[in-house]
Formats: sequence, C-alpha cells, structure tokens
Amino acid sequence: MPETIIEATDLVKHYPIKGGVLRRTVGHVKAVDGVSFELHKGETLGIVGESGCGKSTLGRLLMRLEDPTSGSVVFDDVDMHDQSGAAMRKLRRDIQIVFQDPYTSLNPRKTVGDIIGEPFDIHPEVVPKAGRKRAVQELLEMVGLNPEHISRYPHQFSGGQRQRIGIARGIALKPKVLVCDEPVSALDVSVQAQVVNLMEKLQDELGLSYVFIAHDLSVVRHISDRVAVMYLGTIAELGTEDEIYSRPTHPYTQALLSAVPVPDPTLRGKREEIILTGDVPSPANPPAGCRFHTRCWRAQEKCRTEIPLLIERPDTAGGHRSACHFAEVREVLETTDLTEETFEAPTSGGLSGAVGAVKEGALGLKDRIVDAAADVKDAVTGHREHDPHDQHDQHGHRDPLA
Ligand SMILES: Nc1ncnc2c1ncn2[C@@H]1O[C@H](COP(=O)(O)OP(=O)(O)OP(=O)(O)O)[C@@H](O)[C@H]1O
Ligand code: SF4
Ligand SMILES: [Mg+2]
Repeated sequence: MPETIIEATDLVKHYPIKGGVLRRTVGHVKAVDGVSFELHKGETLGIVGESGCGKSTLGRLLMRLEDPTSGSVVFDDVDMHDQSGAAMRKLRRDIQIVFQDPYTSLNPRKTVGDIIGEPFDIHPEVVPKAGRKRAVQELLEMVGLNPEHISRYPHQFSGGQRQRIGIARGIALKPKVLVCDEPVSALDVSVQAQVVNLMEKLQDELGLSYVFIAHDLSVVRHISDRVAVMYLGTIAELGTEDEIYSRPTHPYTQALLSAVPVPDPTLRGKREEIILTGDVPSPANPPAGCRFHTRCWRAQEKCRTEIPLLIERPDTAGGHRSACHFAEVREVLETTDLTEETFEAPTSGGLSGAVGAVKEGALGLKDRIVDAAADVKDAVTGHREHDPHDQHDQHGHRDPLA
C-alpha cells in the first residue's frame, strides 16, 4: 500500500458573486465543489480538465494560499487548516508551487540569484546567509543552468530557462510536494519536453511528489502515475495512467480522449471522435444530479436527479473510481503518449534529437530557436551550453545557431 502524503477530503471553494448597488452576495461560483483524493509519496498525480473547471483553485487550496469553504487537507498526517504561526510556516516549506507563465511569474527587476534565494529570506533557518550564494548556484546547476549566471536578469533567459528558474525556486526549500500549475503550457513542444524531463529527474533525485495540473492530456499522460479528470468543480474519474487512458469509463474522459490528435498517420480517421454538444454550464449554477448530464450522450433520467459518487466501478481489468451511474469502458484508440516522439528526442542528446529540435525552432518561435541552438551546440561540442545570450554579437543581435 503506497504511503499518502496529502489527503484532500470533500474540498469546497465557493466564491461569492456580488451584485447590485449595495454589492450584496447574489450567488456563488462553485469553483471546487466536493473534491476528495490522495497523493502518494513519490508519485505524480495529474489533474486535467477544461478551462474553468477548478484546477488552479484546487492547487491553491492544497497550498493553503486560500482557505476552503469547507473540507480538509491533511498533509503528512497534519490537518493544514488547523495550523497557524510557526507550524504553518513549517508546513509551507514542505509544499511549494511552480506557476504556468515563466514570463510573468519572475520579477524582472531581480537577479536570478535573488529570485531563487527569496525563499531563504522567508525561511532563513534552511540556509545561513553566508551559504546562500553557494546554495543558489547548486540549485542552478541542478536545473541545468550555468551557476555563473547567478547575477543575470530574467529577460536574459529563454522561456524554457525561465521555467527552470521557477523550478529551482520551487525546490529551494527542499519541499516534499510540488504543485505545478500548468508548468509547461506556455512553452513550445520541444522545450516542454526538456522541462518535463528535468522535472522527472528532480523527482527521482529528491523523492518529490507532484500535483501536475494541465489541460494537455498528452503531457499529463507522459508524466503522471495517476490522473484525476475534473469537470465543473468535481472529479469525474480517477485512476492510474493506464486506467484513464486505456480503459476510461466516464463519458467525459472518453470524449476528451477522443479529441486528442492521433500521432500515428495510419490510424488517423479510424477513431470516432465524440463531439460534445452544448457549452460548459456556469459554475455558479451547475446542473442537478450528474453535472455532466447536459452534455452527455448517455444521460438517462436518473442522471438528472441523482449525483453519481466517485467510487470504484468495474472496468475490463478490475475497477477504478468513476463518477458515472452507467460507467462502462469505451475503447479509445491509442493516441496520446508522445513519449518517444516528443519527449525523448530533444533532450536525450545526440545530433538527431538536437536536429529535430532545430527543425522545430525553424518553425519560428524564439524559444524553440534559443533552446534548440543550445542542444545543437551540446551535440557538437559534447557539453550543454546553457545560456544562448553568450551568442549575442557585438551589436546585441543573436545568432541562434552560432
Ligand atoms: N478569486 C476568484 N474569485 C471569483 N471567482 C474565481 C476566483 N478564482 C477562480 N474563480 C472562478 O472559479 C472557476 C474555476 O477557476 P480556476 O482558475 O480554478 O479554473 P482552471 O481549471 O484553473 O482554469 P484554467 O484552465 O483556465 O486555468 C472559474 O469559473 C473562475 O472564474
Ligand atoms: S451519470 Fe449519466 S450523465 Fe453522468 S456521465 Fe454517467 S451517463 Fe452521463
Ligand atoms: Mg488554471
């Protein structure tokens, strides 16, 4: 039985909606509405779902950046919401967050050293002042950046490198859990792969547990041991990567998977895409019974009145948790693990991977060029060149393939 590090029970977060001249509460956005799950030690739990389904709110609740309307989060056998003062500060050390956008989440006026060292200001007990510079340089090295670039500013790094800086800050206090809210969504595919591979390496080295929030099912499949699929503030289905991707029993998961691009050209057109009709209902007024019934092609009368619980329901090889009265496996054509195609090539070294990354770069986006150039240099010279800004010429122009 795997050990549990976080146990969330019936978590609810309702935001008041204010209206009228008196700004009275006229309703509530039910951003998270009864979510329960456990995070095992050393695992990655992926959280997927459409925009607005409550993923980020859930992440903030786990970090206690916000208080829940009700429900609890138990972290390493301690109820987070009973803690305050020094005990809360200690808990905060153990659970850290990495945000989506490496362009806005780093303070442009601070050096990388200041940014990564910031957590040590709040927790000076972790590293004494005299040892800070060395500690930050070690962190830079751990995330694959040049420790000599400690005095540079965020704008001097590419998007992928900035996300590495965000990750270095996230692991500075040696946390047990990292909540990653769309950590690679703002990056191009080849750069995403490098950052995801780095996260996997750090997980092995540091024994971290990840909550990995994303809307991209392929990325989540690659990194996750288990996956929770969210719909309108609740979990629709929860299982191992294999259970969710190979034997989904919830119609919503099946619909999401049926829309993922098929990488194998010989299989294209052979899969039946499930087109969901209707918009996602407002989280201020979710449908009664099963929240998905307004868009579900399998809905029956019972679905309109009775809430389906997230409980173990049979699949073809045992069972896993699904919140559907009529849970049933629907075969979904293998589509989604981009492991070989995308995730290994650019970073596993070798010229072919690097050339692939350069091809991506040639498609136009700055980040691709910058990171791919570093890969080519790596392949040719046998070592990783971390900072593309060394390749600026005397006029400050960059030659990406120099
Ligand atoms: N501070 C807030 N005040 C009021 N409503 C909020 C607040 N934060 C989030 N919401 C609402 O709660 C719902 C869930 O938002 P959340 O940001 O958690 O979704 P998400 O799944 O992370 O979406 P995305 O994929 O777009 O990041 C949305 O309807 C959002 O508008
Ligand atoms: S409970 Fe009913 S409406 Fe909900 S997913 Fe299952 S079949 Fe569809
Ligand atoms: Mg979000």
